[in-house]
Amino acid sequence: MNPSAPDQFSALLAAAAAIGARTDTAMRSDLETALADCDPLLIEVLHYALFNGGKRIRPLLTVLCSRCCGRDDAPLYLLAAAFEYLHVATLAHDDVIDRADHRRGRPSVAARFGPTAAILAGDWLHARSMHLIGRLAGADGLDIFCAATAAMVNGEFAQLRHIADLNTKQHHYFAVIRQKTSNLIASACSIGALYAGADRRQRDALATYGDRIGAAFQVVDDLLDFKGESGTTGKKTGNDFVEGKMTLPVLLALEKASAEQRQVMKTLLEGDRSQVEALARIHALVEDLDGFKGAARIARRLIDEALEPLAIFSRGQQEQENTERLRELAGFILARKK
Ligand code: IPE
Ligand code: IPE
Ligand code: MG
Ligand code: MG
Repeated sequence: MNPSAPDQFSALLAAAAAIGARTDTAMRSDLETALADCDPLLIEVLHYALFNGGKRIRPLLTVLCSRCCGRDDAPLYLLAAAFEYLHVATLAHDDVIDRADHRRGRPSVAARFGPTAAILAGDWLHARSMHLIGRLAGADGLDIFCAATAAMVNGEFAQLRHIADLNTKQHHYFAVIRQKTSNLIASACSIGALYAGADRRQRDALATYGDRIGAAFQVVDDLLDFKGESGTTGKKTGNDFVEGKMTLPVLLALEKASAEQRQVMKTLLEGDRSQVEALARIHALVEDLDGFKGAARIARRLIDEALEPLAIFSRGQQEQENTERLRELAGFILARKK
């Protein structure tokens, strides 16, 4: 995940490294079987898309949630891999949609191999992820997984509807991010619990935890899009504004803006957003109107709320230890710089 994170995350980072390595091994061996006889370019594109320094947060959640509910075995890492497959499929497609050239510190799949290869490789990963979820988590798992994927598509449409729209409200924003980001994160948690044979109460608690950290995760991502270092995030800073996305810092600034400031923001959002001066001016206005501070405060509140449902996990040592890792992960999401 993030090697420069402070000591408070050392136990989490150790668990994440071990789980990430096992997930990668599961992916490599699954690809070897599944890609036998496939086109060499497809194989190359998939390896490029998958093995390149992603944080592996979704597979980490699946494993921790399954362990919280008492199960840890070899196929769990293949189940976890299915979440990374779907996540990487959405990234490959997302970079076509967002016209993003950089991802994970190097050219995006679309920039490196072209949009056709990015779309097709994403489709392959999507299909393979569904196959694995069905095999390992049954029809109930597939129901949750497909609902999350369908919601993600709807969230992307809703996001497009609000491009550069000054009438966008916070509730629109939260509806978008819950659909495009939280749902998949919540499903990684609840399917991990389902795999472990957890009862309804445990599954719901972990899904709620996932929904809330997922929303916080996207709020932090949207903050990093303005304030992050591209050398650390691996993505181009400022792309959300260029694409006209109405993210939380902008919406909070608009809520506070005077009529005059609102007019300036409107001109910037509706003008040529690819100009570096336009980005600098919107950045300064959002800063002055406390949009970044406000968004950080909301992310912190979501993380606090995410911890509440974890209170029901307190029985055995394994349950306690893995629940502690989930708490640390919530804190990490807030502190992350990439
Ligand atoms: C990026 O997710 C997409 C969002 C939902 C914001 P990550 O930040 O988890 O991406 P990787 O896997 O570490 O590259
Ligand atoms: C997440 O939103 C989109 C996905 C569902 C993959 P972003 O568009 O903000 O993600 P990044 O910043 O490109 O990773
Ligand atoms: Mg994007
Ligand atoms: Mg982003």
